[in-house]
Amino acid sequence: MNTYAPHESGEAIEDKVESLLDEMTLEEKVGQLNQLNGSEHTGPAVSEVDKEAEIRAGNVGSILNVDGYEKRKHFQRLAVEESELGIPLLFGYDVVHGYRTLSPIPLGEAASWDPVAVEEMSAVAAAETSAAGIHWTFGPPVDLTRDARWGRAMETSGEDPHLGSELAAARVRGFQGDDLGADDTVLACAKHFAAYGEVKAGREYNTVDISESTLRDLHLPPFKAAVDAGVGTVMNAFTDHDRVPAGASDHLVRDILKDEWGFEGFVVSDWNSFRELIYHRVAEDEREAAQLALEAGSDMDMVGHVFVNELVELVEDGVVDEAMVDDAVRRILRAKFLLDLFDDPYRYFDDQRRDSTILADDHRETAREIARKSIVMLKNDDDVLPLTDPDTVAVVGALADSGDDVLGDWRAQGNPDDAVTVLEGIETATNAGTNVEYTKGYERSGEAPEPLREQAVEVTADADVAVVAVGETWELSGECSSRANIDLPGEQRELLEALRETDTPVVAVLTNGRPLAIPWLDENVPAILETWFLGTEAGHAIADVLFGEHNPSGKLPMSFPQTVGQVPINYNHLPTGRPAEKAEPGWGTSYIDVPNDPLYTFGHGLSYTTFEYSDLDLSAAAFEMDEQIQVSVTVENVGDTAGAEVVQLYTRDLVGSRTRPVKELTGFRRVELEPNERREVTFEIASDDLAFWTADEEVAAEPGEFEVMVGRSADDIRSSASFELLD
Ligand code: NOJ
Repeated sequence: MNTYAPHESGEAIEDKVESLLDEMTLEEKVGQLNQLNGSEHTGPAVSEVDKEAEIRAGNVGSILNVDGYEKRKHFQRLAVEESELGIPLLFGYDVVHGYRTLSPIPLGEAASWDPVAVEEMSAVAAAETSAAGIHWTFGPPVDLTRDARWGRAMETSGEDPHLGSELAAARVRGFQGDDLGADDTVLACAKHFAAYGEVKAGREYNTVDISESTLRDLHLPPFKAAVDAGVGTVMNAFTDHDRVPAGASDHLVRDILKDEWGFEGFVVSDWNSFRELIYHRVAEDEREAAQLALEAGSDMDMVGHVFVNELVELVEDGVVDEAMVDDAVRRILRAKFLLDLFDDPYRYFDDQRRDSTILADDHRETAREIARKSIVMLKNDDDVLPLTDPDTVAVVGALADSGDDVLGDWRAQGNPDDAVTVLEGIETATNAGTNVEYTKGYERSGEAPEPLREQAVEVTADADVAVVAVGETWELSGECSSRANIDLPGEQRELLEALRETDTPVVAVLTNGRPLAIPWLDENVPAILETWFLGTEAGHAIADVLFGEHNPSGKLPMSFPQTVGQVPINYNHLPTGRPAEKAEPGWGTSYIDVPNDPLYTFGHGLSYTTFEYSDLDLSAAAFEMDEQIQVSVTVENVGDTAGAEVVQLYTRDLVGSRTRPVKELTGFRRVELEPNERREVTFEIASDDLAFWTADEEVAAEPGEFEVMVGRSADDIRSSASFELLD
């Protein structure tokens, strides 16, 4: 982490940490491990304390969710000027996809497959967050999930560890920049460590029960990438791993994160999750909970008060070694020095910077750019899209007229009044010659009463095209918003059935925080745009794609099932002893009522142009463990519209000491091509890229034959070859 404070050498910081630590009483040390809540509750109610008194007494290291800039400044003044040691507070907040200027939800950003754009947007978020006097974001979430039922799928980068790792690193770089002490950077937090995305049956906070292989091969890589990118903090998951809750898991926290990976930052619990060790039934009381968490390697207690209530006595009774407390304090003080808070604790309170930074025009531009890139065109029969000079456009659906919904969950200070709705975007994009007719069609609850339906049919029948916004309202995804049914909510389908009776072509604009099961839509509506929750500039971005200002290039980061019964479903599944495609009919790994394939697979996304792939070439047929191989392929835009293609490289390890996925994303590249332009794209593959948790219980590549595949999605492979990895 020290590389992120070029304003001072790592050694100078360590010296300062040590001399401050020497001055501290045990109570003051434990105070640094204590995080209070401000006003907004982002979890179930916890016991309130007198915050000002606690700050003055030196019992607080950090506060989250403090309501407003002035309040933060006031609390900082109390800590610095009225506590004995004057150690500045760290203010934390959930800035997950923007502070006031919001970008798409993380799952949406992931559909851009554009780490550069994601990094830029995280830097925008950091600039606004720091300008509001906040030092620390609880982001990026780097969980991985294959389960669309889980409400927090919206916070993930989807189902793939490689895409997830690239985006985790990009977000950390964007938040922290290359100097944590700069005015416009914030401390990041990779969360939730680890494997939260595996909650059983997709039910929020449920048990996680996975193998070490699944942990190592799928869930840990994005965290490792965040750590390698220098992330300053990591948050524990609420869930257990191998029957041990994450905050008390020395296997996860001390062994893997701190010892194996050498993580130098600090680990914060999730909301009250140390006390929840009691409800998990691994601790008898708060005292045991505090002991388990500290010994496992967790450093800061978010709102649970168990550290502050118990640790002093645990040390004095000789149960907990003070050296462990010291280690945790060191990590927290180090972060405060890296942020340069001791030199000027008020450096993040600059009224002028706040006024010129938050919701700045160029931030909105950046948000619009990534929002356009995040849209995935799932279907476009008969080239219904882009719309060319329609006389009348019917815009249908409560969601089309909602600034609230386009923001999605974890909206920080995002304000619906700043947001561009779908309707506004269309109205702005069309010229005076186009008539835009809005009709609600269904209520926000999803109900589509007869009068609304009839009116929508009338308006649609008179239009050249109907843009129908359907999908989830924002509260249907996010923390504690798991759904057992992932169809279109309410009576939206009934409305679409009625509209289908007109001759007017329908374009469905989907909003949702998870893959939905929409086979009916796929069969009956000619064009579908997946727009997630695109943030502040949503309406403009959607109109840009509808009217061809922007050629869609988004690709799915998560497979869409045909029905919820297929979930969890992922492209990188393992082979079985009876693979469906090879087995004697009736004896394969399959269902009797639905196919195995998803409706839309990982990597899927259409364009207004056509790309052709040719000349797959490998620099060698074999390479050694310490060498690399180059894989190149030529991509050509053979249509007449400029566009971006995401070239996807997959590999398959043909035989391993453990079963290996049927294919795994190993690289991807986004290329912009003018009509008739062709480009050679080269990927490098090293043995590290082929590593997995082997039967020898290490992350390593094994020698042998590999297949390499290049394509437009996991199920649209255009070319393949093979190579050998030598011993
Ligand atoms: C609980 C959530 O799980 C976590 O992601 C968030 O950062 C904290 N609450 C703080 O709001």
